[in-house]
Amino acid sequence: MTVRTLGVVMNGVTGRMGYRQHLVRSVLAISEQGGVELADGTRVRLEPLLVGRNEAKLAEIAERHGLTRWTTDLDAALSDDQFPLYFDAQLTNVREKSIVRAIGAGRHIYTEKPVAESVEGALDLAHRAAEAGVKNGVVHDKLYLPGLLKLKRLVDSGFFGRILSVRGEFGYWVFEGDWQAAQRPSWNYRAEDGGGITVDMFCHWNYVLENLFGQVHSVIAKTTTHIPSRVDERGARYDATADDAAYAIFELDGGVVAQLNSSWCVRVHRDELVEFQVDGTHGSAVAGLHGCVIQPREATPKPVWNPDLRETQSYRDQWQEVPDNAAFENGFKAQWEQFVRHVVEDAPHPYDFMAGVRGIRLAQAGLESSRTNQRIELPR
Ligand SMILES: NC(=O)c1ccc[n+]([C@@H]2O[C@H](COP(=O)([O-])OP(=O)(O)OC[C@H]3O[C@@H](n4cnc5c(N)ncnc54)[C@H](O)[C@@H]3O)[C@@H](O)[C@H]2O)c1
Repeated sequence: MTVRTLGVVMNGVTGRMGYRQHLVRSVLAISEQGGVELADGTRVRLEPLLVGRNEAKLAEIAERHGLTRWTTDLDAALSDDQFPLYFDAQLTNVREKSIVRAIGAGRHIYTEKPVAESVEGALDLAHRAAEAGVKNGVVHDKLYLPGLLKLKRLVDSGFFGRILSVRGEFGYWVFEGDWQAAQRPSWNYRAEDGGGITVDMFCHWNYVLENLFGQVHSVIAKTTTHIPSRVDERGARYDATADDAAYAIFELDGGVVAQLNSSWCVRVHRDELVEFQVDGTHGSAVAGLHGCVIQPREATPKPVWNPDLRETQSYRDQWQEVPDNAAFENGFKAQWEQFVRHVVEDAPHPYDFMAGVRGIRLAQAGLESSRTNQRIELPR
């Protein structure tokens, strides 16, 4: 068996996503399993070169995982030809200029979302990458979740008939940081640091909607900041300048209406932190991160509205579980493998910078809709 090594410069590995999902659960996990298998049986192992601002933190992570390469000098990392791939999980607002440097160095790019802070910035990156002829990809992790893979299976099978609507609830209570520490970094609540739930989640919603149900062609949104003041990691109170909830209606190709609520100010009374209900003429489904239940039209009950009587039906029990029928990998790792195949053997990976542009475009349209109280059309 031939094994080759692909060096990857990993920037932002001291962060939540960079460390846990990308370094540990993806890049190191791929090496532990012996690499990514290519069509011809060759295996590709990934060798990370850690980049960040804090040498001590990088050294500590490297030591913990038996890694030998780290640096605080991004340009030096980008000039080393043993590392042809650049990955970015830094804060959103410093990503664009790092990716410009990586493209300039001729590196293929894989990045967390959003790819940039603005549509213009994201388009500029897409054009630069195309001109430089480098492969580029943006994290689309939700598509690889078991619940959404099951939903995709249902769509592809024709189970729904004509899909009418999608209703999604995402969110949970993020503590304000005063009497209990917040469970998300404080920058998420400051617009000036690239925070805000609209920018964060609409990038995901765009690719979920377009890959499962149809291209988004308009949005009406109400975004708001429910909690105006929070306490940061150091115990200091700060103004929450970014939106922490977004209530939106998206119109999709084919007449599908998707209504998605995203909030860090809701308490969970659901089975999972995100849930989508899809209703079609022939059947309905409710999918979360892992689970998915269905109700075909043949098994649909006929409720009759009568507020005088106590409910006797258990509606939840009338749904049927969709079986796994497959072993599901960590979604981040599954996409890393797909992107590595894309880089090394030109296998398909459609989630490129232009997909990232559409994500940030939807986020900006949502914010504009809320600001102007208007329905915003998106270019097709
Ligand atoms: N795909 C997903 O589901 C998902 C989930 C959460 C976050 N994200 C994205 O991942 C990125 C990181 O989010 P996180 O939650 O890991 O944040 P985090 O605060 O935990 O990590 C941020 C990283 O950026 C670095 N950083 C901070 N300020 C910097 C600066 N001025 N210059 C250079 N580096 C700086 C930090 O050292 C750290 O390594 C964001 O772009 C976010 O949108 C994606």
